[in-house]
Amino acid sequence: MKTIIEAKQVKKTYGTKENVFTAIDEFNLTVRQGEFVGIMGPSGAGKSTLLNILATIDEPTGGDVKIDGTSIVKMNEEKLSAFRRDKLGFIFQDYNLLNTLTVKENILLPLALAKMNVQELEKRVNEVAVKFGIVEILEKYPYQISGGQKQRTAAARAIVAKPSLILADEPTGALDSKSATDLLEGLKGLSEHDQATILMVTHDAFAASYCQRVIFIKDGKLFTELIKGESSRKQFFNRVLDVLATLGGGVSDVI
Ligand SMILES: Nc1ncnc2c1ncn2[C@@H]1O[C@H](COP(=O)(O)OP(=O)(O)OP(=O)(O)O)[C@@H](O)[C@H]1O
Ligand SMILES: [Mg+2]
Repeated sequence: MKTIIEAKQVKKTYGTKENVFTAIDEFNLTVRQGEFVGIMGPSGAGKSTLLNILATIDEPTGGDVKIDGTSIVKMNEEKLSAFRRDKLGFIFQDYNLLNTLTVKENILLPLALAKMNVQELEKRVNEVAVKFGIVEILEKYPYQISGGQKQRTAAARAIVAKPSLILADEPTGALDSKSATDLLEGLKGLSEHDQATILMVTHDAFAASYCQRVIFIKDGKLFTELIKGESSRKQFFNRVLDVLATLGGGVSDVI
């Protein structure tokens, strides 16, 4: 499988010379097509910062990031927005739904630019709506639905165009366990059957147990990495819990 993400010596600092804070420190990461990778670590470890850099939302202070063979560090804004539109799907904590559009229109948004006929569009939207249990709310507006429904709408929107790279920051945070399981099964299916590459930040060991590999970050650096391999989801879940216990520094807020 080809390499989708290649991050080398990525660094992100905030502040001025006298008061510099390193959020990501010389981070290396290689992710291959079809991998479902979890990112875990204590609050403030740098998980969202790393994800935002890979999502081309944030610029690194140093190092290089190649996505699908192209360095995103040197890309101009025009190229970046085309890149985001064509290759990336986002599921973020604050949903980013447009309040003036219905749930259905929000989901259609990433497809609007694809040359697809109306029937095909309807079919796609219905498929994802069924997958995330939001068929009944398709005609509603974001302010008329619950937090969990917003998150499921955002997830549906993120996967509807079948992007090659899906970036998710706490996608199950606001979901009940049934919706969370549906979303995780959906993501797992995309990686296994559609070769989608998925990077998911999570505090939840249950969510992480759906990944093939989990990267643990502490203080902006790689702490350790777990590979699911042949272990069952339950076994992997326990291995994730073991690492969280050794991570230290506020273990209570990582599970
Ligand atoms: N714009 C910013 N300016 C200054 N410091 C920042 C900025 N954004 C993030 N940081 C700091 O960088 C560190 C990493 O933040 P980040 O949001 O990546 O953490 P995280 O691992 O996602 O945490 P959480 O689990 O709480 O979401 C934190 O200490 C944070 O305070
Ligand atoms: Mg975060």
